[in-house]
Amino acid sequence: VSADFTSARFLGFGMPASAGVPNLGKPAVLIEPPGAAEVAHRVALAQGAGAGLLARSALHGLIDILAVTATDAVVLLDEHSYPISTWAAHATKKGAEVITYRHHDADHVRRLVKAFRRRAVVLADAWCAGCLRAVPLAQLAEITASAGARLVLDDSLAFGVLGRDGCGTPGWAGVSHDSLLWVASGAKAYGAAVAVVTGPRRDVARNASLGPNRMHSSPAPASEIATLGAAIGDRHLPARRRRLAANTRSLRDGLACLGLRTLGGPLPVIAIDVVDGVAAALHSGLRRRGVQSLLVRSACSGRSLLTFCVRADHTDEDITDALEAVSHVLRRAA
Ligand SMILES: Cc1ncc(COP(=O)(O)O)c(C=O)c1O
Repeated sequence: VSADFTSARFLGFGMPASAGVPNLGKPAVLIEPPGAAEVAHRVALAQGAGAGLLARSALHGLIDILAVTATDAVVLLDEHSYPISTWAAHATKKGAEVITYRHHDADHVRRLVKAFRRRAVVLADAWCAGCLRAVPLAQLAEITASAGARLVLDDSLAFGVLGRDGCGTPGWAGVSHDSLLWVASGAKAYGAAVAVVTGPRRDVARNASLGPNRMHSSPAPASEIATLGAAIGDRHLPARRRRLAANTRSLRDGLACLGLRTLGGPLPVIAIDVVDGVAAALHSGLRRRGVQSLLVRSACSGRSLLTFCVRADHTDEDITDALEAVSHVLRRAA
């Protein structure tokens, strides 16, 4: 091509030189950004899914899936979904009918799916960020498959961490990817702000050509795609995952030794189950001692949880410091 008039890089800028890979300034529906197809394919392959596609974020991926899949559908949404699922459900072109089901209640989903059969699209977070429990995935997969309905899963918390090669919650739970539409952010385990969508080949192809964000939003940035590609190809990944599991175990066991009940296994996110006042006191007490934690309002329990996100690069000293700080603050509060 000698004259290309499809890019909107009006002032002729590419990417900053440091990033090394150019953004094309063209919608993904015209051309996949550099590296996108390979990275998506590798994730899909590891899962045994039919095909994969990259999206700018989990929200973009979910909107595209629902816009393409849920025309004339009824979206069944967990009452305590992560906010982006709710936004995506309401962003479909004509505004799909959205009905909420009780938190993690497979029997409720079964009754609703029975009423709408093939028109039902069940949307679920693989893990609830509020109570850190897994969705009853095997049951939802069985309910949707037997009714010819669709199951759409946001697996952002477990992608890269759970399952063989970090393939995610379905692999970890022994649930097939055959008819799942799966979305996950790469921003957590892999530190790459880009999302992956996988699913049956036909659905992914329809998504690739009809997903509204593929036409109307900027594609996933090439630099983030390169970051994700490098992370999933990192030869130290097995060692990183082992170290993450060991750190998670150490912190959880240490907290148990202090007499604290924790939520969250097997994710590397650990919440201390204490009353709100104690959670807030721990949070500020830890911060004063140089230990940063999160005080998370759990939508499903209505409580505040003191939460630790554990990482593979935490040192033994980091874990010990956190435990000593918790112990110190609890002793002072007693
Ligand atoms: C369940 C879930 N989905 C999606 C996201 C965000 O996705 P992204 O990084 O693609 O914006 C988060 C971030 O906390 C999350 O917990």
